[in-house]
Amino acid sequence: MTATFLPAEKRVLCRAADIAEGTSKAFPPAPGAFFGLFAIRHAGRILVYLNSCPHIGVPLNWSGDDFLTRDRAHIICATHGAEFFIATGRCFSGPCIGDHLEPIIAEIKNGFLLVPHDAGRAD
Ligand code: FES
Repeated sequence: MTATFLPAEKRVLCRAADIAEGTSKAFPPAPGAFFGLFAIRHAGRILVYLNSCPHIGVPLNWSGDDFLTRDRAHIICATHGAEFFIATGRCFSGPCIGDHLEPIIAEIKNGFLLVPHDAGRAD
């Protein structure tokens, strides 16, 4: 994907328009990073989280772009079924209740969804 006029310190995840309202999308780890990311368009905003469940640190999805409950109201972990509020990433049901997904600062510029180039890299 080519993206002109974008800051070099940012990673381009996709075109913002590629994520429809009520859908989610997975992204692989950045070079040198351990964790992948995922994004959700919810109530007109795109939120990005680290793809790591706070329960035991595994990816929330088993495969593909499916991070949402059947009614698309919440994020769900495929391993043990923890559920999270989309807007805050807080777990309200399951083994990690009260814990949070790690939010990633994201912005949309020139129609592209951008995150810090090292997002997901463990320090
Ligand atoms: S790994 Fe996500 S709920 Fe257990």
